[in-house]
Amino acid sequence: MQNVRLGIIGLGNIGRYHAGYLLEHKVGRAQLVAVADAFAPLETFAAKGLETFADGEALIRSGAVDAVIIATPHYQHTTLGIAAFAAGLHVLVEKPISVHKADAGRLIAARQQRPECVFGAMFQLRTEPRYLKIKKLITSGELGRLVRVNWIITDWFRTEAYYASGGWRATWKGEGGGALLNQCPHNLDLVQWFCGMPARVRGFCQLGRYHDIEVEDNVTAYWEWADGATGVFITSTGEAPGTNRLELCGTRGRLVLADNRLTFVRNETAMDEFSRAAKTGFARPDIWKAEIPFDDTPAQHATLTQNFVDAILDGSPLIAPGEEGIRSVELANATLYSSLTGQTIELPLDAAAYETKLQQLIAESRFEKKVVAVVAEDFTKSFVR
Ligand SMILES: NC(=O)c1ccc[n+]([C@@H]2O[C@H](COP(=O)([O-])OP(=O)(O)OC[C@H]3O[C@@H](n4cnc5c(N)ncnc54)[C@H](O)[C@@H]3O)[C@@H](O)[C@H]2O)c1
Repeated sequence: MQNVRLGIIGLGNIGRYHAGYLLEHKVGRAQLVAVADAFAPLETFAAKGLETFADGEALIRSGAVDAVIIATPHYQHTTLGIAAFAAGLHVLVEKPISVHKADAGRLIAARQQRPECVFGAMFQLRTEPRYLKIKKLITSGELGRLVRVNWIITDWFRTEAYYASGGWRATWKGEGGGALLNQCPHNLDLVQWFCGMPARVRGFCQLGRYHDIEVEDNVTAYWEWADGATGVFITSTGEAPGTNRLELCGTRGRLVLADNRLTFVRNETAMDEFSRAAKTGFARPDIWKAEIPFDDTPAQHATLTQNFVDAILDGSPLIAPGEEGIRSVELANATLYSSLTGQTIELPLDAAAYETKLQQLIAESRFEKKVVAVVAEDFTKSFVR
């Protein structure tokens, strides 16, 4: 194979965005040849010479593509992903890879049946220079052993019009969650990418605090790692102006990413060693302060799609393997489950118990979703960095 024939399933906000850069040939050795959407108009794509399908499964069965990008509402990531693997296609799935851990497990199991298929997840923030610098400072040991992570990411502001723009949005049945599942998968993925998975989770989720919705739009979570490291994660889609401040503390210093600046305050001696060796009570390690420069280009979805294509054609390692997507799903589920049950949740999360809880929420829902067409606007304004 010299080029990858790509199909996109789901032509809403993000599906059209993927189609845009692919049609502009921003991804080498990839050709967008087909698209599918169950509801959106397809004529403009047909006019560009693409094969069009009114349902994703028909595109998968068509034989027209080698690989699919799945950009539908989250529940269909699992069902369409499983169908695509069964048909021997490579799959690049949007985040979250599934609504809940049991579904993510089913998707991963389907891929295991077809190990020749490449499975990527669209976690494009893993390509952002600022996050790559943080990752490097952690993996190189510069920051020492991580002891605390705090992320206040409350600038995911969304209006009532956003929630009313799609029948699936912000319902247990259509989306399976709120801020944790729609806006935060990128942040949850980065937390586990930097720090690994916590051992236990306590979440406090307010459902429909700011919006006329039944799912969480305001969250405070406490996470604890097996080695005693702790984390607090605060998010909201109702707060304006909101904050985006990530602080990572290690034994060798503190990293803060806020206001488009990355600052590293470095302990000359690791704090635990210093504490043990110091002869006086109020002494502190000497510090060095450095502003870490980073290239300010935003994450490019096209970079991840290029990496997916390179993985198919050359066997290049994936930046975001699909299997790793189960971790952010588990973090989201466990945080919500903890809040709903009023308990600390030990990880790994009991996937079946959470699925049962979600089914109960769906069955007991009395929420009536009102859908209102939104004024066309630039969707890329929604990307937070
Ligand atoms: N990586 C990112 O930066 C990013 C940004 C936005 C959205 N997303 C993710 O992309 C997904 C879609 O989000 P969106 O905002 O584009 O939603 P959207 O509602 O705008 O679009 C979804 C589209 O999927 C179509 N669809 C639904 N079921 C289908 C099926 N079975 N077959 C074919 N088409 C089907 C709908 O008609 C709709 O056009 C979500 O999972 C979301 O989390 C990722």
